[in-house]
Amino acid sequence: MKETRRFPFFYMKGATGNSFHMNDTKPPEFKTQFAEDVFHGLTSYPKKISSKFLYDEKGDELFQKIMELPEYYLTGKEYQILMRHREEIGNAFASLEGFDLIELGAGDGKKTKVLLRHFEQKNYDFKYLPVDISHSVLDQLSQSLDREIPGVEVEPQQGTYMQVLGKLADYKERKKVILFLGSNIGNLSQQEAVSFLQKIRNSMHKKDMFFMGVDQKKDPQVILDAYNDKAGVTEAFNKNLLHRMNRELEADFDPDTFLHWPLYNPETGTAKSYLVSTKEQSVQINSLDLEVHFQKWETIHTEVSQKYDDTSIAWLAEEAGLQIAGSWTDKENCFKNYLFQTI
Ligand code: AVJ
Repeated sequence: MKETRRFPFFYMKGATGNSFHMNDTKPPEFKTQFAEDVFHGLTSYPKKISSKFLYDEKGDELFQKIMELPEYYLTGKEYQILMRHREEIGNAFASLEGFDLIELGAGDGKKTKVLLRHFEQKNYDFKYLPVDISHSVLDQLSQSLDREIPGVEVEPQQGTYMQVLGKLADYKERKKVILFLGSNIGNLSQQEAVSFLQKIRNSMHKKDMFFMGVDQKKDPQVILDAYNDKAGVTEAFNKNLLHRMNRELEADFDPDTFLHWPLYNPETGTAKSYLVSTKEQSVQINSLDLEVHFQKWETIHTEVSQKYDDTSIAWLAEEAGLQIAGSWTDKENCFKNYLFQTI
């Protein structure tokens, strides 16, 4: 219960209302990271669950659907930028005369293939190293690359970004280009983004490059709609967390008693998503031996999708010891891809 003690109002009876059926002087042992994070997140006030847990098998499938939605402009915009500017982007990378292209969180590689195809046609001397935690994602990607662009040399790297970057940092024979597309940086708070970029920076040697796609501040309504699609796919994606707790932690959430509530603050550029309990209720999470109490309208914070602009990206870069060596955007400046090098 260490986590909740930070909040002075923990001592007010019923402030969180959670009760432990177990001896609560010693911390329970957790079978999985998910179990541990859910335990801490739902016994905190306000309640929260990290967005990384949105992506189980069902969540991956829903995210694939999100990328096809008319409201979810990010994927299409970045695809267009890479299509339109592949020549120039390629020239920047090719100035290294041989490089390892390391992609953090490659997914299905749809956008990256635009670059890979182009680099192959140009006969660039490069290897592609997709990094992912999931073996099955890497297997599928390698197979589709074998079929579609057989000329590209692929070396899948299974592990977390930091494990792989740590391993590759020692490797100096060839220059590195690190790719981080899809505005995945947006899932980090600004503090976390700084320390993430510092770690990237520390894995880079002179002339190595870091290429990152970042969603930009824009009409707040457009951003809000991207996280509140009419078909309800994003709602299902958010509520999948409740289903996942039911499936994996033997919980008894009724997802119909929660609202999907996205919001966007145009001053800070922060989009956030919540699940809001529409009634007072108690939920059992059996495998954690935990009863979680919700007051009417109590929230679980589930996601951050930070939006940036040139000013905030320049600040991030400076904090991390990086400089901007180039950038490419679409006509409306909806999305932007930045190229960084070390200072
Ligand atoms: C994969 C983190 C870029 O924040 O836009 C999409 C995830 N969440 N719809 C984003 C997401 C809801 C997405 N990222």
